[in-house]
Amino acid sequence: MKLNIRFPIRYKILLILLVVVTAVVSTITFTMANLFHSDKRSYIHDLTSLIAVHSAKEADSLLAGYHERLQVFARLMYNESLQQEQKTELLKGLFSDFDEFVAVTLYDPKSGVVAVYDVNQLIPIGLDRNTFDEYREKHPLPLDKIRSGEIYIENSTLSVKLPTLTLAIPHQGPAGNIPGVVTGTIRLDRLLSLAGRSKVFETFLLDGQGTILAHTDIKKVIDRLPVDWLPDIESLNNQQSAGTTKEYNYNGVGFVGGFSQVKFGSLLVGVQIAKNAAFLSTKALINDLLWVALGLLLISSMFGLLWAYRFTKPIQSLSQAANLVSKGNFDVQIESSSRDEVGSLATSFNHMTSELKSREKALVEANEKLVQSEKLSAFGQLSAGIAHEVKNPLTGILGYAQLSLRKLEDDTPLHKNISIIEKEAKRCKAIIENLMKFARQEQVEFMNTDLIEVAGDALAIVDHQLSINRIRVIKNFDPALPQISGNANQIQQVLINLMINAQQAMEGEPGTIAVKIRNCNDKWVEIWLKDSGPGIDKEIQDKLFEPFFTTKKAGKGTGLGLSVSYGIIKEHKGKILIHSTPGKGTTFVIVLPIAEPATEENEKQTNEAETEDNNEPVKTATIK
Ligand SMILES: Nc1ncnc2c1ncn2[C@@H]1O[C@H](COP(=O)(O)OP(=O)(O)OP(=O)(O)O)[C@@H](O)[C@H]1O
Ligand SMILES: [Mg+2]
Repeated sequence: MKLNIRFPIRYKILLILLVVVTAVVSTITFTMANLFHSDKRSYIHDLTSLIAVHSAKEADSLLAGYHERLQVFARLMYNESLQQEQKTELLKGLFSDFDEFVAVTLYDPKSGVVAVYDVNQLIPIGLDRNTFDEYREKHPLPLDKIRSGEIYIENSTLSVKLPTLTLAIPHQGPAGNIPGVVTGTIRLDRLLSLAGRSKVFETFLLDGQGTILAHTDIKKVIDRLPVDWLPDIESLNNQQSAGTTKEYNYNGVGFVGGFSQVKFGSLLVGVQIAKNAAFLSTKALINDLLWVALGLLLISSMFGLLWAYRFTKPIQSLSQAANLVSKGNFDVQIESSSRDEVGSLATSFNHMTSELKSREKALVEANEKLVQSEKLSAFGQLSAGIAHEVKNPLTGILGYAQLSLRKLEDDTPLHKNISIIEKEAKRCKAIIENLMKFARQEQVEFMNTDLIEVAGDALAIVDHQLSINRIRVIKNFDPALPQISGNANQIQQVLINLMINAQQAMEGEPGTIAVKIRNCNDKWVEIWLKDSGPGIDKEIQDKLFEPFFTTKKAGKGTGLGLSVSYGIIKEHKGKILIHSTPGKGTTFVIVLPIAEPATEENEKQTNEAETEDNNEPVKTATIK
């Protein structure tokens, strides 16, 4: 089943940001930790190796010093020219000068074993010659090896209070060809202090048998523990380089160890440090970095959320606005201050809504006009039907009324009555004719027409009526006016309608009618008819062209004048407009297209049409 979970864009942005930040921070942390770790590792290796080499050199010179002193003891003990008391006295002096020496023993093939002891050191800690002898019996010296030139050193600690080493060297005594062996039991104090110098590093010295000779932890020396934690001790003992390092585990703890051989006596100095302690700062650094990364993540998620909110807010407003627009509300405008693509989208959206709004307004207006036009069309058809049916009986009534009048004396009451019938029948006939004109059932001829001539004729017809009503006509005709294609009679009728309306609107008051005809951008001509009448209220301006709309008393006006004029102008493919302000007169503007110049082709077609249609009108039009 598909889960329909919606993730808003802001959470997607946040997620991407977090993934990127996490990846970047992790890479930086990992790389830094790695770099630091490898740097620290090589530093630790170098340091352990350096300390080991240094300690080995110190141990070497210390043991060389012991070697020389041991030879001094041996030379004294072999000196046969001295008396025993003198020797004892001198040996006492030597023990006090070389205070680290506890005992010296000679193994001579000729005179056997001769041993001297520093009793000042042995008695206070309860040791005597027997203890030494017992120890030596248990740990015999490799005399042959020593005689062959090998220096032998061992941990010979007998008491907790007296950690010692035994140094055995070959010595050419009085025995002749077979060299003797001289051993010195020496306090370990100085070697121990060498091992205990560093608190961070564990330093130790191993004798040739792999036993601890000196160690930071003195207990390991006293117990004469063997070294069992070092890997491959053989290879360490045989190493060629001055210092070497190794990493190993002991009791589950990882160590880094540096090793160096002591040339004197084949000893091995080791310096080791637990990896935990060595890389403590690396760990601390990684910890710190992790905290910093966590902080960065937190800050970036907060920043990301804020940024995503700011970024998606206009999109959200756009979505809400689009929702409103889909419900037909085009008054929506989005405020967006951003200059990015979202900002330009908001601007385009605002542009779209205002465009939609104006188009909707235009659509409503067009629809209203269409309804009006359909109303007029329906009315026209109805009128045409009625007019057609009424016209013939009316002609009959009028004809018979006129015939009767001719046979009656003027002063008879019947003559008066039939006169009224004739007058009313004429009025009805005029209405019917107007209706038919409105419905435009008859066909009219269109030809090139001079508007100035038409206007002149119309003015001549109304001149008398205007002058008796004290109305002055002001003419302003463009002399270079192009002709229009139309019907002179119809245009004349329109002008008469408008001028009679103006005259009637002034209700006997003197006034002016200004008639201006001008050429307008070579495509249209305009006829302006401006009167000084009372003007027309805004509320009724829209209804003026409706058939039968009149403000005049019953019997005074039919309300067909303007609707017929409208029909005629429309038929001429023109427009009729009203500009009127109550109290400031009315201006009717008629705009008509000028006649197209006659081309050879047109003339040819016209001639052909005339021949074919038996002199029928060239161009006819009917209001639909
Ligand atoms: N120049 C004008 N000044 C003021 N009102 C006018 C003017 N022209 C027309 N009207 C108003 O427009 C109405 C309609 O005019 P229209 O010519 O269609 O009908 P009518 O003049 O009332 O009657 P009819 O023309 O059929 O005799 C008039 O009744 C009048 O109120
Ligand atoms: Mg009228």
